Amino acid sequence: MTVAAESPSAPAPAPGPAAVAVPGPASGPKSGPASGPGTGRAAVPPTAARVRSIGGSPVRDILAVTARPEVINFAGGLPAPELFDREGVAAAFRYALEETPAQALQYATTEGEPALRERLAARTTARGLPTTADDLLVTTGSQQALSLLATALLDPGDTVLVEAPCYLAALQVFGLAGARIVAVPGDADGPDPEVLADLVIRERPKLFYTVPTFQNPTGRTVPAGRRAAIAAVAARHGLWIVEDDPYGELRYDGERVPWIAAHPDARDRTVLLGSFSKVMAPGIRLGWLRAPAELRRACAVAKQAADLHTPTVNQLAAARYLAAFDLDAHVARVAGVYRDRRDAMLAGLADALPAGSVWTRPEGGMFLWVRLPESYDTTALLPRVVAQDVAYVPGAPFYAGEPDRSTLRLCFVTQTPQEIGEGLRRLRRGLTG
Ligand SMILES: Cc1ncc(COP(=O)(O)O)c(C=O)c1O
Repeated sequence: MTVAAESPSAPAPAPGPAAVAVPGPASGPKSGPASGPGTGRAAVPPTAARVRSIGGSPVRDILAVTARPEVINFAGGLPAPELFDREGVAAAFRYALEETPAQALQYATTEGEPALRERLAARTTARGLPTTADDLLVTTGSQQALSLLATALLDPGDTVLVEAPCYLAALQVFGLAGARIVAVPGDADGPDPEVLADLVIRERPKLFYTVPTFQNPTGRTVPAGRRAAIAAVAARHGLWIVEDDPYGELRYDGERVPWIAAHPDARDRTVLLGSFSKVMAPGIRLGWLRAPAELRRACAVAKQAADLHTPTVNQLAAARYLAAFDLDAHVARVAGVYRDRRDAMLAGLADALPAGSVWTRPEGGMFLWVRLPESYDTTALLPRVVAQDVAYVPGAPFYAGEPDRSTLRLCFVTQTPQEIGEGLRRLRRGLTG
């Protein structure tokens, strides 16, 4: 459950004008001779309208800010690198390359390495959703699973329902697919199932995309009752649910909530996405999707066109890691550290934020969500905050519909508690200076 908390800290002056430029989208290099009238060279055709319509990438803007080493980066959403199991992962890669080089360095099937899919299926089954290797398609990160689903399910003009706010790279995927994106309003427990039902009837969407556990960006978790209600809406009105779960293993308090995909009403219409990015390492780029056969086959066709298959050596190394090491014990260690970091951030927020601010208290994951008083615009304020060498993500880009401009996302896992304390002191100066 996410609970809003009140900040008792002193009132601050209204946010002033931006003082410092934040690195923006990189403009393309101007290489080669000029083209245009009098040059004898005509301009090349433009990029596709769908790319131009998306405009600059907010994700890229964020990563540009995080590249400055002096910035305490609450923006990036990066797992703590010192917690990667370097030795274990290195040993698994060594094993794959030394023991099975012909296989590891060769082309493979689009669906993914059977050894990995078997182990992923066993893990999914152990978490309450009976699954076989054949139910799974290995993807190059769960981000690719979103792209494959967009290709497999969406024609330009189709409607997609999303949460408000929503994981922003999912908004980009659906936008690039030419979808109409409609936000489902909700509250601290996630999207409202009654409003969802009304929107399904009115908008006839193809799918509803949700991150029900430790959501990016809010950190909120949809309780079991509401998951059942969402599943019932999908059953009654005919709707695909895309349940994206990269954070579910990172639980610090409370009880695990069963997947929507495990609900009997929704089993034949829910696609469950998983990823090793937050529990092993994002650089391995390993994700998977579990989907009913016909849709899974359509995703495999889309994947063939995209990259043929996910790198074989990474898949075999991950399978070896799962066979030789205890991933759950590793995740428990990481979760212990992340819990302390979350608590450090929660402990410092009241002093760092202006009076009247509210924020979520996630039971897991990597993010929490802040709403400043209404007069604050977190996008306009960001340059002033970055000038203090600290960064957050403004909330506006996470909204498909009308943005709440007073919101922002903080990632609490990347820094130590001491750094978090210092970052919050800088944040206070940036917000109140
Ligand atoms: C909700 C959500 N889905 C998908 C992804 C993509 O993750 P991956 O590294 O598995 O592609 C992220 C990454 O931050 C995420 O937050």
